Amino acid sequence: MKDIKLHDKTFEVYIPETEISAIIHSLATSINNSGIQNPLFIAVLNGSFLFAADLMRKITIPNAEISFIKLASYQGTESTGTVNELIGLNQDLKNRNIIILEDIIDTGNTLEKIIELFQNKGLATFKTATLLYKPKAYKKDIPIDFIGKSISNDFVVGYGLDYEEIGRNLPHIYKLKN
Ligand code: IMP
Ligand code: MG
Repeated sequence: MKDIKLHDKTFEVYIPETEISAIIHSLATSINNSGIQNPLFIAVLNGSFLFAADLMRKITIPNAEISFIKLASYQGTESTGTVNELIGLNQDLKNRNIIILEDIIDTGNTLEKIIELFQNKGLATFKTATLLYKPKAYKKDIPIDFIGKSISNDFVVGYGLDYEEIGRNLPHIYKLKN
């Protein structure tokens, strides 16, 4: 498969679409067999839009729901530093079994912020599913419940993941070519 160029960088195929689909099939099977009831999946935009769409088609748990959020970070006052906010969360989360859907977990900073923002909302259970995980970059102790594939520390694009906002439409996942 051909290399591609995005902005100033060249990328080579790393996880072809056939493998992505096998990974998603196996993730869906794990979630379906986990015993979680009436789940509310919450996909973190923008990166997880294709993953969420493909995974949901393989979920067979009755009464499964899906919603989408975006994590916005902005500079607060000097004393508060960076402020994080969840955009798009309208549902009542009380007593819900939440499964977060992430495209990739790298350092874990984003996941940690999401967890903070979900605290005190009276959830029944909270689980995380990610398509890709970079174990060598992960700096947190938070357990990740469902992992599609653990990858090296390379920068990847495609299938929802971007390099400075482009490349999300690529059907395969590519990595930076050295
Ligand atoms: P973390 O907070 O370091 O775990 O990284 C989370 C976010 O960084 C992800 O949701 C992605 O948007 C972005 N990210 C991390 N690694 C990559 C990558 O290899 N390619 C594209 N985006 C990435
Ligand atoms: Mg990004």
